Amino acid sequence: MPSNTPPIRIAIIGAGAVSDYHHVPGINIDPRCELVAVCDQSEALLEQRRSDWGIDYVTTDYNQICNDPDIDAVIIATPNFTHHDMSVAAANNGKHIMCEKPLGLNSEEVRRMRDAARDAGVVHMTAFTYRFAPSMRYMRHLAKSGELGELRHFRSQRFLDWPETSWAWRQYKKTAGAGDLFDMTIHRIDFAMDLMGPINKLCGAVAQFTPRDKTVDGQDCEPSDVDDWSALIGVFDNGSVGVWEGTTLAKGYHKDGFGHEWAEINGSEASAVYQLREPNRIWLGRTGSDLAPVEVPEEFLKPADSPRVVGEGDPATVFRYDLVWEFVSAIVEGRQAVPSFDHGLNSQIIADSVLESNENGAWINVASRLEPVD
Ligand SMILES: NC(=O)c1ccc[n+]([C@@H]2O[C@H](COP(=O)([O-])OP(=O)(O)OC[C@H]3O[C@@H](n4cnc5c(N)ncnc54)[C@H](O)[C@@H]3O)[C@@H](O)[C@H]2O)c1
Repeated sequence: MPSNTPPIRIAIIGAGAVSDYHHVPGINIDPRCELVAVCDQSEALLEQRRSDWGIDYVTTDYNQICNDPDIDAVIIATPNFTHHDMSVAAANNGKHIMCEKPLGLNSEEVRRMRDAARDAGVVHMTAFTYRFAPSMRYMRHLAKSGELGELRHFRSQRFLDWPETSWAWRQYKKTAGAGDLFDMTIHRIDFAMDLMGPINKLCGAVAQFTPRDKTVDGQDCEPSDVDDWSALIGVFDNGSVGVWEGTTLAKGYHKDGFGHEWAEINGSEASAVYQLREPNRIWLGRTGSDLAPVEVPEEFLKPADSPRVVGEGDPATVFRYDLVWEFVSAIVEGRQAVPSFDHGLNSQIIADSVLESNENGAWINVASRLEPVD
């Protein structure tokens, strides 16, 4: 981008935890964009963000952001049930959109979001964070280049040791869609299909073990109606198989709040393992040997040209800033972002099918439900 090109003017809608942790730091290190406005329904939080983020333009009305001709792009980081209306309003006003996962409460909503963004010709991106971990990028390279041989098994574990108190909006179907499945496992559905290709059929299950009917400060609240454990077995189009398990109730898996994350491919030549706590290293093993650590080569440590300084900050945190880099790169390069709303839609279709399989106690053929995606 030539140095005299004006920066992409980004507004954040939803000034909560993930915007503070991922998106604002990502904007701050990218000279090609600037944060120009912040929307949140909480006036108190907006006041705090004025000083936290050094921003003057704040509003409680997302339509004001969507109608503002001086805003080029929005990052939507609000509770799941609000994503649909906000994305459609942004698309209809020609704004580029990065929206948090899950894109919506179900695949019908997400399809409408994708169609609105596609019809408007804007860049659309789903914030599937873990695709950006250096170890995931390197594992993808090993899988696609044939280094692992024929891909046979995929395995994903996401175990969190979270308190059994209320999850606020996250614990109700009407505001979150589902629990662990839509919050956590959906990321792993996305990166599994990125590594292995489309899922052809699946058998899924969810379970709930705790009512979460008290807030952290001991007040009564409406009990949760969503899962806190989710799992699926899948068969990919290429004949390989996958097993996923996620839970927020794995006692002893706190690990500084990052929990346990393990994703693995077993190929005919080698096995490769990604772990969230070690994003700059994979574990690799060939027949007759044990898994051993391999440092991620430099070219996979961050996107090419990104100004992020490798080695600065907690590695399990800082790769998350690369989402904004990809979003802004897609805008300035005039291409679609990866992962786009198409990827968000396919993951939503799979997650919805897990709920359907759990309900019916049956395998589901999902091949004909998925959309073709590059
Ligand atoms: N990609 C990731 O790794 C990742 C991590 C955490 C959260 N998320 C996703 O990000 C989204 C937000 O999660 P969070 O943890 O930041 O939640 P949060 O509750 O901390 O923040 C959400 C914010 O949205 C605001 N809000 C709610 N309704 C609004 C409205 N109508 N208009 C304006 N603001 C509104 C709330 O006041 C709150 O400040 C969710 O979809 C979640 O699944 C993604």
